[in-house]
Amino acid sequence: MCARARPGEQPPGLSAADRYGEAVFRPDQAGEDDRIDLGALAYDDMTMARLRNLGVGPGWNCLDVGAGTGTIARRLLREAGVATVLAVDRDVRFLTARPFPGLGVLEADISAPGFGPGRFQLVHARFVLMHLPSRQRLIADLGELLVPGGVLVLSDAVDLTTATAPTTPYTRVMQAMWQGLRDTIGTDVAWVPDYPNLLRATGLVSVAAEIQVPPLVPGSPISRFWAGTWDRAREAILATGLVDDAAVDAAVRYLDSPECAALSPGMITAWGWRPEEAPP
Ligand SMILES: C[S@@+](CC[C@H](N)C(=O)[O-])C[C@H]1O[C@@H](n2cnc3c(N)ncnc32)[C@H](O)[C@@H]1O
Repeated sequence: MCARARPGEQPPGLSAADRYGEAVFRPDQAGEDDRIDLGALAYDDMTMARLRNLGVGPGWNCLDVGAGTGTIARRLLREAGVATVLAVDRDVRFLTARPFPGLGVLEADISAPGFGPGRFQLVHARFVLMHLPSRQRLIADLGELLVPGGVLVLSDAVDLTTATAPTTPYTRVMQAMWQGLRDTIGTDVAWVPDYPNLLRATGLVSVAAEIQVPPLVPGSPISRFWAGTWDRAREAILATGLVDDAAVDAAVRYLDSPECAALSPGMITAWGWRPEEAPP
């Protein structure tokens, strides 16, 4: 049985080398940008609709942390007409490969002490904090990067493949994936539903949240994203001892078959506003 960390803490036994992008999801592995782009294809329209509904638009200076390939950063500039986006990632190769007017790129570890790239009207992080330790501190630190009246928007995965879900090749591999990622790089989605409380606890106001789930249709971006993610995380999945190679192969076939009748993990998006400063 694996030792569990308290919510928001690095699981015991993990070192700095056991982080996202090192033990698993290495950016130098061929096709990693394509895998991130499949996730983006599944979720970008939902994210953009939420950001625009929150009023993000012309004149805004935005920060996108853990920006990946930069799909949201570029859509904010191109479609929402924001003034600038600073896209931050600990590895910026996919961002510098696709420059865009108004897009700034910064290579940095957002969890490093002293990370302070400026103040922004929008601070956005999607599918990043779930992979990092000290999430509660990180949420507070990201809130500090807002100008008064700015909004912090956080999205991460919610595991709908619970222990009570019917046992199929898909649910068995999905459960093994979450455990394998937790054991190898400290990914933990158990605390994600607590986002609204955590945002409120940092002093942000008008906090709200929603869950969105893209349908698992064979051949769809989200189905291909999970198949690609299992491929990259296969070693971590197998190391759990919960499934073997044949089970992962069967789950990949199931995802792409007419038999597939399952629910994808969803995306929780939560947001909160930094209060306007009281007049002197
Ligand atoms: C799953 S990808 C999500 C990419 C993008 N936000 C999206 O939703 O399409 C996670 C990204 O976070 C970056 N990342 C992970 N840990 C980071 C850290 N400590 N500091 C900055 N970026 C980090 C990774 O390099 C990767 O690009």
